[in-house]
Amino acid sequence: MNKSFDWSLRLGLIILWATALLAAKVAFPDAAALARAGAQAPATEGGQPFNQEAKLEELRKKIEDRKDKPAEEVFKNIQQFKGMPAGRLLRVMELGYSKSLGVNCTHCHVVDEWERDDKPPKQIARDMADMVRAINGEQLKKIKNLKGPNPTVNCTTCHRGQTKPALNLG
Ligand code: HEC
Ligand code: HEC
Repeated sequence: MNKSFDWSLRLGLIILWATALLAAKVAFPDAAALARAGAQAPATEGGQPFNQEAKLEELRKKIEDRKDKPAEEVFKNIQQFKGMPAGRLLRVMELGYSKSLGVNCTHCHVVDEWERDDKPPKQIARDMADMVRAINGEQLKKIKNLKGPNPTVNCTTCHRGQTKPALNLG
């Protein structure tokens, strides 16, 4: 084989290998770094890492003039949060739901088609909210001699930054 051809072939292969390595790094970021960030899956949007902060900012701007209106007037598929101001719904999504489960919006949503119910965790979240209401409204009220005047659980009580609540302290 021609010597200079051989070298350009090798160089080509090295460039190809380096590109593939870089692409893999972008598509599958370091698992330990993700765990530290509290995310449980390399959530992406169209191949790009999902930027929750930027998306929330975009949504807040979009509803700025309607943020105090009831969520069901501003959004399209509100079954549970009827009457809640639209701006507050976004805070519940960020802190109550994403943060307490250690996920981002993409765990439950098709990004930019927020009204869709395609992803099972979205309906699970509705069912969990019903369960929380039952615990707070009925079960806890039946327990006598508790110290708090208004004993309450919420998503964070069980989830503590994980999709699957712990069953032991290990
Ligand atoms: C654990 C699941 C879960 C996560 C995580 C989550 N959401 Fe939601 N989201 C829901 C559920 C459930 C509803 C519908 C509530 C209802 O029926 O009233 C909803 C509704 C919405 C709506 C209203 C859509 C419409 O038009 O009806 C928007 C907008 C939204 N979420 C944005 C977000 C954003 C932004 C994030 C990330 C910061 C996020 N959500 C994270 C479960 C989730
Ligand atoms: C009393 C404890 C408890 C509370 C409170 C609670 N959850 Fe859960 N949640 C669980 C358990 C247990 C599971 C099932 C984990 C498994 O798969 O074994 C679960 C699972 C889930 C899942 C599915 C996770 C996945 O793998 O995608 C979602 C979504 C969820 N919960 C949302 C919520 C939301 C939102 C709230 C608050 C409104 C909430 N949960 C409150 C105990 C709780």
